[in-house]
Amino acid sequence: MTTFTPRLSEQVQRLRPSSTIAVTARALELQRAGVDVLSMAAGEPDFDTPPHVVAAAKAAIDAGRTRYTQVQGIPELREAIAAKLLRENGLTYTPDQVTVGNGGKQSLFNAFFALLDPGDEVLIPSPYWVSYPEMVRFAGGVPVAVPTRPEDAYRLDPDVLRAAVTPRTKMIVLNSPGNPTGAVFPEATLRAVADLAQERGLMIVTDEMYEHIIYDHAHVSIARFAPDHTLTVNGASKAYAMTGWRIGYAAGPLPVIRAMNAIQGQSTSNASSVSQWAAVAAIQDSRAFIEMARGKFQQRRDRIVAGLNALGFPTPTPDGAFYVLADTSRIHTDELEAARIMLDDARVAVVPGTDFLAPGRVRLSYATSLEQIEAVLERLAGL
Ligand SMILES: Cc1ncc(COP(=O)(O)O)c(C=O)c1O
Repeated sequence: MTTFTPRLSEQVQRLRPSSTIAVTARALELQRAGVDVLSMAAGEPDFDTPPHVVAAAKAAIDAGRTRYTQVQGIPELREAIAAKLLRENGLTYTPDQVTVGNGGKQSLFNAFFALLDPGDEVLIPSPYWVSYPEMVRFAGGVPVAVPTRPEDAYRLDPDVLRAAVTPRTKMIVLNSPGNPTGAVFPEATLRAVADLAQERGLMIVTDEMYEHIIYDHAHVSIARFAPDHTLTVNGASKAYAMTGWRIGYAAGPLPVIRAMNAIQGQSTSNASSVSQWAAVAAIQDSRAFIEMARGKFQQRRDRIVAGLNALGFPTPTPDGAFYVLADTSRIHTDELEAARIMLDDARVAVVPGTDFLAPGRVRLSYATSLEQIEAVLERLAGL
């Protein structure tokens, strides 16, 4: 009998294995061995989905809303999203200019495949969410990091962005509030980026997933300044504590939305019908939940930033999202080693900044209770 080894596609071989895997695997190993590890690695709110959203999903099941839907999403949801974008973001879109995917992740994936040709350069402010460069590469594009600095609280400098534009540049990806930096870009920066896009004929893909998790600032959507150049991506995961329901969406110029629908129609079809009905309830009325979550996240942010700085881990104060990037050079210059020391010696799981392009830093998520944050700070004090 001959042995046969399937040859994987070149495309998939170019996907980079995540350097966080080693730390995550070690954390799981320790947990399985009965060691009580405190994880600060979560990428999701620790709250339950609000009850009125759960009730809407149950009602949808009972009403038999369990079949395929339109690829781009049920009209009721796209209408609710268009109304939300007008009410909360000052953006005018028809429901046809909205497409619903299986999480913001799929909407982003569809967007890159709809817009990128081989060799197209995509500017991404760094530190960045690791999926952007991977998805861009997957779609044939070339990710180009545009660095931001901790001393600027990781806010993008539009002049640095402008200097990175080449004749091959096709797109700018923005993520404000950002993962992993928590940075919120001021309106003047967004206007400057919009001007640049208009001047150089670039597309902006703006990921506004964390828009409601923002402190002392009002969220501003860049689509207000360059609507023809902008695709706005958002979703239910972070705002309404619905990570498992897998609802994301995008709104923008009709040809882009149609192309994204065509891609989705040949891949996953529609997002879950039940989740879509749940998302209608979430998007129409979740102000009380959003305010509750924001208040709790802000308390936690204040505690963890103060605590980490006091322990000699310099940490800028983020204006949004639920992550901090702590400088761990006090315990090791290599952030992978620092993360390992935090895990092995303090039993605290964090994500090394390596893949985010945040050298010398680790990411801690504070989507966890104040009690756990206190316990983590106590453990880290021993290092
Ligand atoms: C910046 C950012 N965008 C998008 C997503 C994807 O969210 P989802 O696919 O759950 O909608 C995440 C999740 O971690 C994120 O951090």
